[in-house]
Amino acid sequence: MPGIVIVGVQWGDEGKGKATDLLGERTDWVVKFNGGNNAGHTVVIGDEKYALHLLPSGILSPGVNAVIGNGVVIDLEVLFAELGALQARGVDISRLKVSANAHIITQYHRTLDKVTERFLGKRMIGTTGRGIGPTYADKINRTGIRVQDLFDENILRQKVEGALDQKNHLLVKVFNRRAITVDEVVEDLLSYAERLRPMVCDTGLLLSQALDAGEVVVFEGGQATMLDIDHGTYPFVTSSSATAGGAATGSGVGPNRLDRIVGIVKAYTTRVGSGPFPTELFDENGDFLRSRGFEFGTTTGRPRRVGWYDAPITRYATRINGITDLVLTKLDILTGLTEIPVCVAYDVDGERFDEVPVNQSDFHHATPILEYFPGWTEDISTARTFEDLPVAAQEYVLALEKISGTRISVIGVGPARDAVVVRHDLLD
Ligand code: IMP
Repeated sequence: MPGIVIVGVQWGDEGKGKATDLLGERTDWVVKFNGGNNAGHTVVIGDEKYALHLLPSGILSPGVNAVIGNGVVIDLEVLFAELGALQARGVDISRLKVSANAHIITQYHRTLDKVTERFLGKRMIGTTGRGIGPTYADKINRTGIRVQDLFDENILRQKVEGALDQKNHLLVKVFNRRAITVDEVVEDLLSYAERLRPMVCDTGLLLSQALDAGEVVVFEGGQATMLDIDHGTYPFVTSSSATAGGAATGSGVGPNRLDRIVGIVKAYTTRVGSGPFPTELFDENGDFLRSRGFEFGTTTGRPRRVGWYDAPITRYATRINGITDLVLTKLDILTGLTEIPVCVAYDVDGERFDEVPVNQSDFHHATPILEYFPGWTEDISTARTFEDLPVAAQEYVLALEKISGTRISVIGVGPARDAVVVRHDLLD
């Protein structure tokens, strides 16, 4: 079963690294298929700590081929800064391939992201300010700049001119900013072209050939289901397809090549930025989860909003993505709670909703209907089999499995790479 997709179930930061680590040595290819440097993961290997925002984590594993797919938006300055930092620490970066069709984040996209957010005032999305939304907007508007455009200066210049014709009106007349010149953008982009050239190819073809040869390809989703442009809490979402369908469109392989869909879900919930969050906590329980779970953004450093586990969201994510296995992360953070509340359904203005409401206003009004499960006090970080877990922790996991409707194949019990309980092999 060579094609494996890893997606976040909630609003991101579920700890996808646990799943990629588990697949580790059996992985031949790791593909990033959506998003850009709005993501953030810290990978600890031995004593070394690596913070990656754009590159897929697979770049750190010797022998693994890393791919940036067509569905990604690339900030070239960030790409080469990350590559440079890795190279300086002796990491082999020669196995990185970049899709010729991926879109480029330019200076005007970053500027527009920031000024648009300011303009929205209290309606702001709380974006990471990295230019993600404006770059995807240009892609859909058919005014974007793609990786392949960097290798034809004439074409590049025409495209940048076309984009800036409109955007400078906006920047100057609406947002009161200085106009950006075509030359400064073109010069900046061209300064990366020769270094980029050897990495660029038809990554869809490469991946299809790898799958034909029976190699293991892991498609690593950035952000998560509830931040997906179609299926998330719109408009408080990112601008890409963060769900499993995006693995096919964002990498150029057919949907029937995706054999296993692994959903990563935290034992509680977090979210960064604005938007509805029914189980959000504003009391000392929230402080407990935030400080114990170290819930601060990897990309922005912002404290994350925190809340209890939301089972309707997991059921929804399972349906939207076709999840076959769940990886439940950070179970150890709940250690010490006397009882653990879990959201099993919502109350929306007096009406019970067992599923995520399709109407956005209903979701904004949803308050959780909670069920309470007994907690445990024992340190679980050394557990390696399900039976090693305290009975209350086992029962909590079994209850989540039942109300979430999908098997929980792996349980994260601590920050260490090997701190996992594997109930079902993700490659079986
Ligand atoms: P953007 O992706 O920068 O446009 O931000 C849109 C929304 O997605 C904001 O609420 C961000 O906080 C959120 N977001 C983007 N990337 C991540 C991520 O990797 N983890 C969690 N939230 C994210």
